[in-house]
Amino acid sequence: MNVPLYEKIWMWASALLIVAFLTTVAVGVAGSALQPPSHVETIDPRTVWSDARFAKRGVTVDERGATVVLIAMMFAFQPAEIRVPAGRPVTFRITSADVTHGFQIVATNGNTMVVPGYVSQFTTVFRTPGEYLIVCNEYCGLSHHLMSAKLIVETQP
Ligand code: CUA
Repeated sequence: MNVPLYEKIWMWASALLIVAFLTTVAVGVAGSALQPPSHVETIDPRTVWSDARFAKRGVTVDERGATVVLIAMMFAFQPAEIRVPAGRPVTFRITSADVTHGFQIVATNGNTMVVPGYVSQFTTVFRTPGEYLIVCNEYCGLSHHLMSAKLIVETQP
């Protein structure tokens, strides 16, 4: 089959693009620890406050790392201040008591949507101790811009 040079150039260019796109996905997963949307775990948004999984909110630390349990609501996160250890895996478990919210830990790769009816979960490691701002990045109502929390990453003794 005779393929003209001009057409060959375009075929190779598109093949190269596909390889480049797949490479960015692989680098994102392996290099930046990007994760696909969390496991599918449902919850009744009307009863999140009394649900056993969210009855005890806050940070639990054990030998594997830390687990943070949070509820997002109009227009706050509960709890609003979180302390986690640096350099250890931290698993966040978040759900919404009302509408869709966002949960973004600014300047880190911690970022998820919080959809009512579901439990959003992700695990990340904070290497740099310090104070981080958590914001809601999904428009959720009139005071959306006030919805924030604080993450304090502490050095291990
Ligand atoms: Cu919650 Cu915007």
